[in-house]
Amino acid sequence: AGGVVHTDVLVVGAGPAGLTAAAFLAEYGVSAITLTKYGSTAHTPRAHITNQRTVEVLRDLGIEDRLREIAMPAELMGTNVWATSFAGVELARMMSWGQGQDRRADYEAASPCEMCNAPQTVLEPAILAAAREREADIRFNTELVDMTQDDERVRARVRRRDDGVEYDIEARYAIGADGGNSTVARSLGFSMEGATAIGSAFTVWIEADLSRFVEHRPGALFWVSPPGTNVAVSPWTAVVPHTEWNALFLMHDMLPADTSDQAVAELVRAGIGDPDVDFTIKHIGQWDINQLVAERYRKGRVFLAGDAAHRHPPANGLGSNTSIQDSYNLAWKLAHVLRGHAGPSLLDSYHDERKPVGRQVIDRAIKSIQDLQPLAEALGVAPGQTAEQGWAAVDELFAPGKAGETRRAAVLNALPLVDWQLNCHGVELGQRYTSSAVVDDGTPFPEYTRDPELFYHPTTHPGAHLPHVWLQHGTGHVSTLDLVGHGRFTVLTGVGGQAWTEAVAAISRETGIAVDARTIGLRAEYDDVLGEWTRIREFDDDGCLLVRPDRHVAWRSRGLVDDPAATLRGVIASVLGKP
Ligand code: FDA
Repeated sequence: AGGVVHTDVLVVGAGPAGLTAAAFLAEYGVSAITLTKYGSTAHTPRAHITNQRTVEVLRDLGIEDRLREIAMPAELMGTNVWATSFAGVELARMMSWGQGQDRRADYEAASPCEMCNAPQTVLEPAILAAAREREADIRFNTELVDMTQDDERVRARVRRRDDGVEYDIEARYAIGADGGNSTVARSLGFSMEGATAIGSAFTVWIEADLSRFVEHRPGALFWVSPPGTNVAVSPWTAVVPHTEWNALFLMHDMLPADTSDQAVAELVRAGIGDPDVDFTIKHIGQWDINQLVAERYRKGRVFLAGDAAHRHPPANGLGSNTSIQDSYNLAWKLAHVLRGHAGPSLLDSYHDERKPVGRQVIDRAIKSIQDLQPLAEALGVAPGQTAEQGWAAVDELFAPGKAGETRRAAVLNALPLVDWQLNCHGVELGQRYTSSAVVDDGTPFPEYTRDPELFYHPTTHPGAHLPHVWLQHGTGHVSTLDLVGHGRFTVLTGVGGQAWTEAVAAISRETGIAVDARTIGLRAEYDDVLGEWTRIREFDDDGCLLVRPDRHVAWRSRGLVDDPAATLRGVIASVLGKP
């Protein structure tokens, strides 16, 4: 067998990164083929925390409502409980992901979207359906064997796993979205920075009705530490509330553990803590913990996205989120280059923008695991103890007297450190890009007024994500984010911005590049009824923002300029690398 199939973009992998690329490339009218060596999307739950930026990406794709139907909503995600077991003693509790009183307003103000809990078994089929509705060519059971490239093209050798037939695919560009064991990265010699196999963990997918233990304290994560076991920590995630769970086990010193069915069943039984509760183990998966990021995200015509580019533990839940956001950054750039609207240098901005995000995510995840240590010490249940020692520590924690009082204070002191894992809004939303696809306006980024990891600081500075504000349109409400995206550039101006709107119309006509113009202001087309946009926008009524298809600000002008069309034309050419 043989033959060569031609396409513009080859996407290797159909996990969160690959499916997102497939869907957006199809949406933008790019010819692409997406491969996955497996016969289906994820067969185990894996990543689940879906943050606001990711839901915004899926809103752009038009599937936010669908996601809401299948995912566990934010209001049920908030309570984090540390306990000896589900049926056992609750040791500590904190509110996460903006569900606590102190953070709720921050999360609500930052986005039109709420977070949700959507395991990959639920999330991937939703993105796959969106890709298929756009007629994306997605080939299951098709494995990349090897990839090479020259100046003109990428050539991939692939094998159909059902019948063993091999053929070649030639593409102008390729995306390696093939996960932590990336064949693309290996074939093309991408090098990784960091450390491999710094520890080991395993996940267990469990069917067990635990409703009666959690209904009064609903949350996406229960941290279970049964006294007398070798479990360092085991966060259990609700897969189907509250009857299916995905438990991640980090053992003492992150060493590999006995994952025989019997040993795992014992840990699960201890974690539930009630011998009368029936459970079924649906899957056990062992994996290495890495702390790796690709040195370069681009090599010639090939890009890495998702776990192929960054590998880290699940603390902060950023794995699949970052993967989806990588592809959202890359897809519009490829579409513009392939359409001839942008120069190939636009594609360099993918590395320049996303590598710092990958680096931050990895470092944050590792630090977040370390930051659990003071809490673990204060709670006093530790691996290596006998059950008696563990229970003695629990008894002391809640007993009257100096020792208990000191430990209770230590618990309350240690919990805020976990905010950097569970309320880390700045890391979730606050990406600020510096690259050739952003034109600086000569002002510095505003100084952070609060901790930049914990708090999202909205700004319209070039490189930042467009801030969200609700606007009134007719009698409906739309987000500023809804005015942009859809693969198009958008100029947002104010009541005095007629000249910008005219310039946009002229540029779209001349260049064929899709640029929209929208006016936001008091009694304008998009009515800033509460004045919130005017307060946050950082430019005047006759100024404007140029927003990219991925909703990041490309450029801004505080006020009107002499020749808006010439200025805007120059800026767009610069962003697209096409002078
Ligand atoms: P992903 O790994 O999802 O997908 C890779 C794709 O590439 C698959 O479609 C595969 O078939 C395809 N592929 C690979 N090699 C190929 C080849 N040679 N040819 C063709 N196709 C190929 N994260 C988190 O935040 N919380 C969690 O609890 C967990 N739990 C977890 C458990 C386990 C067991 C794993 C392995 C991972 C996690 N993760 C996680 C990490 C999370 O799952 C991960 O960050 C995302 O799935 C990354 O998405 P990608 O799309 O990049 O790769």
